[in-house]
Amino acid sequence: MGEFDGKVVFITGIARGQGRNHALRFAREGASIIGVDIARPVSDYTTYTQATGEDFDETVRLVEEAGGKIIARVADVRDSAALKAVVDEGVHQFGRLDVVVANAGICTWNRFWEMPDDQFEELIDINLTGVFKTLKAAAPAMIDAGNGGSIIVVSSVAGLKAMPGQANYAAAKFGLVGLTQAAAKELGEFNIRVNSIHPYGVDTPMGTDVSVLQLFEKHPSWGPSFVPILTEKPIADPDDISNAVLFLAGDGAKTITGSQMALDQGNSKV
Ligand SMILES: NC(=O)c1ccc[n+]([C@@H]2O[C@H](COP(=O)([O-])OP(=O)(O)OC[C@H]3O[C@@H](n4cnc5c(N)ncnc54)[C@H](O)[C@@H]3O)[C@@H](O)[C@H]2O)c1
Repeated sequence: MGEFDGKVVFITGIARGQGRNHALRFAREGASIIGVDIARPVSDYTTYTQATGEDFDETVRLVEEAGGKIIARVADVRDSAALKAVVDEGVHQFGRLDVVVANAGICTWNRFWEMPDDQFEELIDINLTGVFKTLKAAAPAMIDAGNGGSIIVVSSVAGLKAMPGQANYAAAKFGLVGLTQAAAKELGEFNIRVNSIHPYGVDTPMGTDVSVLQLFEKHPSWGPSFVPILTEKPIADPDDISNAVLFLAGDGAKTITGSQMALDQGNSKV
């Protein structure tokens, strides 16, 4: 018996990193997965390697190896029609939709006055508008299923406290707090809960981007903004984040909506 037996979970950004881990963890708990990823280089401004078709295929293989069912499609979270088509296909196949994890995102760096307009706009399009489009594609199917549900929006510690070098990222991740709270108020009457999570560093290609160290050397005044309270293991494992996602998705969190859960080693309080 798994905690999510018979439930259906829609996850964006499944090719690797946190999204892959969430897919695996839900599958191990009996859920069927609807997953999307762009599965190709998405931005010229990222300084870490980007997900590939092989990564995407590997997620599918791992979920199926774990005994899970998955409908995985290559789609861009900037494309509402593509997202709706995947959700429709998944709900047709699995019969319902219970949980959404709006996880896909990118991270790019620059001081704001040196940031090309398209660098700012691209990140907002993916990390903020892409989450709006994800929720918009999924909410009607959840309402129609009539089973209530839970939506988890993946923000960041940078959505609680802005970091230097990331005006675009902070603007998007703070924006997700407003989107989360508005969606929680609108979906409450359908017993659909909406919460955001706010990780600090996570052990993924995005979270272990060593080129960022050069920025800290160039801008020593930035360092204090990134200091955590807990220093023993400051970089979280994807499982640490999945633990919170599965908690918010489950009945143990039935009283929680519109909230911002800091998974940030205390960094937002420093
Ligand atoms: N890694 C960290 O330290 C950290 C910290 C806080 C928050 N986050 C957030 O966690 C989420 C997951 O990041 P991660 O650490 O797993 O990074 P990652 O780069 O390993 O994974 C992100 C995934 O999203 C996909 N993606 C990117 N743009 C997309 C688009 N337009 N359409 C569809 N898919 C797209 C990528 O292809 C990739 O597979 C992101 O929203 C990120 O901002 C990460």
